[in-house]
Amino acid sequence: MKTGKKATPTIIVIFGGTGDLAKRKLIPAFYNLYLDGWMPEKFAIIGLGRTELDDEQYNNHLHEGLIEFSRKGKPDEAQWASFKKNVSYFKSNINNTGDYSVLAEKLDKIDAEWGMRANRLFYLSVAPQFIEAVTVNLHDSKLASEPVSDRIIIEKPFGHNKETAIELNNLLTRTFQEEQIYRIDHYLGKETVQNILAFRFANALFEPLWNRNYIDSVQITVAEQVGVEERGGYYEGSGALRDMIQNHLLQILCMVAMEAPVSFQAEEIRNRKVDVLRAVRRIKPEDVHRYAVRGQYDAGWIQGKKVPGYREEPEVSPKSNTETYVAIKFYLDNWRWQGVPFYLRTGKRMQEKTSSITIQFRPVPHSTFPESQSDSLMPNRLTINIQPQMDIRLRFMAKKTGLEMNLNPAEMIFDYDTCSTQTPEAYETLLLDAMRGDTTLFMRSDQVEEAWDVIMPILDTWESRESLDFPNYAAGTWGPENAEALIARDGHVWATNLHPKEHH
Ligand code: BG6
Repeated sequence: MKTGKKATPTIIVIFGGTGDLAKRKLIPAFYNLYLDGWMPEKFAIIGLGRTELDDEQYNNHLHEGLIEFSRKGKPDEAQWASFKKNVSYFKSNINNTGDYSVLAEKLDKIDAEWGMRANRLFYLSVAPQFIEAVTVNLHDSKLASEPVSDRIIIEKPFGHNKETAIELNNLLTRTFQEEQIYRIDHYLGKETVQNILAFRFANALFEPLWNRNYIDSVQITVAEQVGVEERGGYYEGSGALRDMIQNHLLQILCMVAMEAPVSFQAEEIRNRKVDVLRAVRRIKPEDVHRYAVRGQYDAGWIQGKKVPGYREEPEVSPKSNTETYVAIKFYLDNWRWQGVPFYLRTGKRMQEKTSSITIQFRPVPHSTFPESQSDSLMPNRLTINIQPQMDIRLRFMAKKTGLEMNLNPAEMIFDYDTCSTQTPEAYETLLLDAMRGDTTLFMRSDQVEEAWDVIMPILDTWESRESLDFPNYAAGTWGPENAEALIARDGHVWATNLHPKEHH
């Protein structure tokens, strides 16, 4: 896990350097790391793309991205000028072996100038069908020949199902060793998600209660207000189960449910997480309808504006069977969590943008208070708000001030805003870790494959059976009614759907 050490000199090569990710996330992240003094003393960023651009044009394109997307806003001219000296552009074609030789010469030249063999970070921000060509060419051109200092970062999707994920892992390990492969799940870089481990394992107070004896149920919600935006083409072949549950929500589940690691070594933590995925009870195909609900948004209203239904979005079939909402109940078969339901849900075009984890504790075993008060007793609840609100809240019962013994729920709140000045973006954390060679927050091959294994029965069932009620929720609501029923059957309600007064 992280130490205070800066990375050694590094050359960063971005395949897909003119793409959206580079402009919105990668360059703003590198630039902010630079401003905060985290970039290596010597670094070079080379953006690769097919467009005809010179370095100046490329830098202007990136500069626009910084103004629009960086958390620090418009860059200071002098600082930007000194940063951009390290950034260049190379027009190239992913399939052209000659271009890799030219790239190799460029990197060797930088090494010669710096008087050392620098670390090399190859960032694959390209569509999945290009991964093979890049890795094979990197191998053949010997661009990534150093086992420790040369690394590859890849973005999701890691396969389209379990089988293709295994194929992809096999492909990558032909060129790279597992320790060189950094599979990004940007949720793991979020400050609030990382804090789950600190909260659980740096305090003696919560861990003794963190099990089936005291916890009644757990909810993980990642709700978005946006629709599929410009990504209809991609999303049609993906859906919410692949896009969000297979990676982000299952990773959060791992953080909440894992056993205490012996140390903060990357492999130790990754082992504990994969244990959780192995413990998730596989849902039998014939039971999928009892444990999982799918939804697709219809037209509706978001923040006072009329928005179209999913089937009316660009590049989406008018008869689409793709889900934009998923709710699932999982059980974990191990000592700690036997019998505790974990409710996961995610959706686009929800009423609010909110991501949170709710740990619902068991009710008190016996009510000491007069009957009139027993009704107002609410079980303790811990809420970890991930975004956009960032806080941790513990609900407990207290006496209402006054002459009578009346009870009221109260909250203890840890609010990030009052404790820190600026929260780093997930990509800042993850890119810095990759430059420093720390794999803790990245997905290992077995984690990815196990996560696919968890969702495969649901995926197969849904793909083989068309949903007859799509679209089944209006944009701007909390999703399909069946999702309420899924949890209501167990006597629960989705925590974030409660009326604000009940939130307490
Ligand atoms: C991405 C998904 O991985 O995560 C998107 O592909 C989704 O569909 C996004 O919108 C959500 O990320 P964040 O950081 O905005 O919660």
